[in-house]
Amino acid sequence: MGRLDGKVAIISGASRGMGKAEAILFASEGAKVAVCDIRDDEGKALSESIGSSATYIHLDVTREDQWIAAVEATVSAFGSVTTLINNAGIAESAPFYEMSLESYQRVTDVLQTGVFLGMKSVVAPMTAAGGGSIINISSIDGLIGMDNIISYVGAKWAVRGMTKAAAREVADRNIRINSIHPGFIYTHLAVEDESHLAATHALLDKHTANLAPMGRTGKPEEIAKLALFLACDESSYSTGSEFVADGGLTSGYPSPGASA
Ligand SMILES: NC(=O)c1ccc[n+]([C@@H]2O[C@H](COP(=O)([O-])OP(=O)(O)OC[C@H]3O[C@@H](n4cnc5c(N)ncnc54)[C@H](O)[C@@H]3O)[C@@H](O)[C@H]2O)c1
Repeated sequence: MGRLDGKVAIISGASRGMGKAEAILFASEGAKVAVCDIRDDEGKALSESIGSSATYIHLDVTREDQWIAAVEATVSAFGSVTTLINNAGIAESAPFYEMSLESYQRVTDVLQTGVFLGMKSVVAPMTAAGGGSIINISSIDGLIGMDNIISYVGAKWAVRGMTKAAAREVADRNIRINSIHPGFIYTHLAVEDESHLAATHALLDKHTANLAPMGRTGKPEEIAKLALFLACDESSYSTGSEFVADGGLTSGYPSPGASA
């Protein structure tokens, strides 16, 4: 018995990183998974490696027509939609007073508009299925601030608020909506060049050693397990809530004596 037997999940941004870890874990727990992304080659390879429980669907989360098509393709492949992880993400950095409007809007479109479109597009099939669970991937940057990524911080706070607003509107349809707030996790986010990946992760290790009480960077699989909890019926009384997995980073700060 899998914890997701009978569930059909759409996961956006699933070709890499946390979305990929979620696709693998969800399929291993009995779910059918629509691996959705704009990175077609990696997404197809992942879907093929998972096997008949998965299908790859090209989905740019900023495009409403593609959301409609992705939902249709998922229902046609697996019969329904019960689960959505709004996971796709990008980040672009600059001081806010130097950030171009184009960069600001590009990030907001993917992170904020993408979540709006995703939630909107699954309400009808989830209602038809008798209910469902939507998991919106925000960030610790939806709880506090971070320098040089104002578009990202703004969108991640928006996702946290939209989660609460939307959850209230569909609770009577047995659809639950929650947000996940990861801390620093080993993925490709904001790594343009593959050859920079190891250096970026080493930088994250230094950063989390200083900032997070647990003293380490998180793994995609650790976020996937939290998403699994929210996707399955074990979280049946949780909606409109935020779930943090950050090694304690946002728990507070040391007392003055600690650095004496
Ligand atoms: N890595 C971290 O430290 C961290 C921390 C907190 C939150 N997050 C969030 O986690 C989520 C997953 O990111 P990740 O860290 O796994 O990064 P990642 O770069 O490894 O994966 C992101 C995926 O999103 C896809 N994507 C980008 N734009 C898209 C679009 N328009 N339509 C569809 N797919 C698109 C990419 O192709 C990629 O496969 C993001 O929402 C990110 O903001 C990441």
